[in-house]
Amino acid sequence: MAQDTWNQVDGYLRERFAPPDAVLEAGLAEAQAAGLPEIEVAPMAGSLLALLARAIGARTVLEIGTLAGYSATWLGRSLPPGGRMITLEADPRHAAVARKNLARAGLAEVVQVIEGPALESLPRLAAEGAGPFDLIFIDANKDGYPAYLEWALRLAQPGSLIVADNVVRDGSVADPQQDDAGIQGIRRFLDALAANPRLQTSVVQTVGPKGYDGISISLVR
Ligand code: SAH
Ligand code: DHB
Ligand code: MG
Repeated sequence: MAQDTWNQVDGYLRERFAPPDAVLEAGLAEAQAAGLPEIEVAPMAGSLLALLARAIGARTVLEIGTLAGYSATWLGRSLPPGGRMITLEADPRHAAVARKNLARAGLAEVVQVIEGPALESLPRLAAEGAGPFDLIFIDANKDGYPAYLEWALRLAQPGSLIVADNVVRDGSVADPQQDDAGIQGIRRFLDALAANPRLQTSVVQTVGPKGYDGISISLVR
């Protein structure tokens, strides 16, 4: 019942605020044909990411967890001319599909896909002096979120946004019965956001085609 209603309302909202988009749909079809998991952000979440990037005038974006480049397409499109995005992906099959999809979206020169575990790529980026990034989107393995936050803080600057997907996970974040490594990672991540005086954070609970979840949004002060 709830899921049906969420889907119906999602369709209503998408007609208005995330209308059909041939490039995004081709990218999803490509990912499906390659057998990738269908765990990209929902269209309304993609449009939220793009809105946040535009609202702060982001020129540089870092994403942790590329999959097939769906959220990277929303974010890459929201950058001004000369803007740059780096997205990190551990699975070479995912990275290959993402590169193809980003090229189709005309973003091959804007979005760089870096292959490898994020905890190997992030220190390299920092050592190379990459960043600062205006918006950092965390959406890879959930047990890694606390460490990704530490790197995000190092690679951000005052005014940057740190956004994270999947912080509610069907309510399990607040369910003491749920205690796998992913949920523990999300809880430690949220605790670290809350305890950090450099950050102002809010969390939006979301429903829609991807079920019940949430997105945290933190401003670096
Ligand atoms: N942001 C994407 C969805 C990402 S799904 C979108 O909305 O379109 C999560 C991705 O993180 C998967 O592709 C998975 O392979 C990748 N991932 C998992 N562990 C990782 C790690 N340690 N380093 C980098 N990427 C990782
Ligand atoms: C999973 C990962 C995600 O980033 C997501 O949005 C949904 C599911 C997963 O690993 O199951
Ligand atoms: Mg996600």
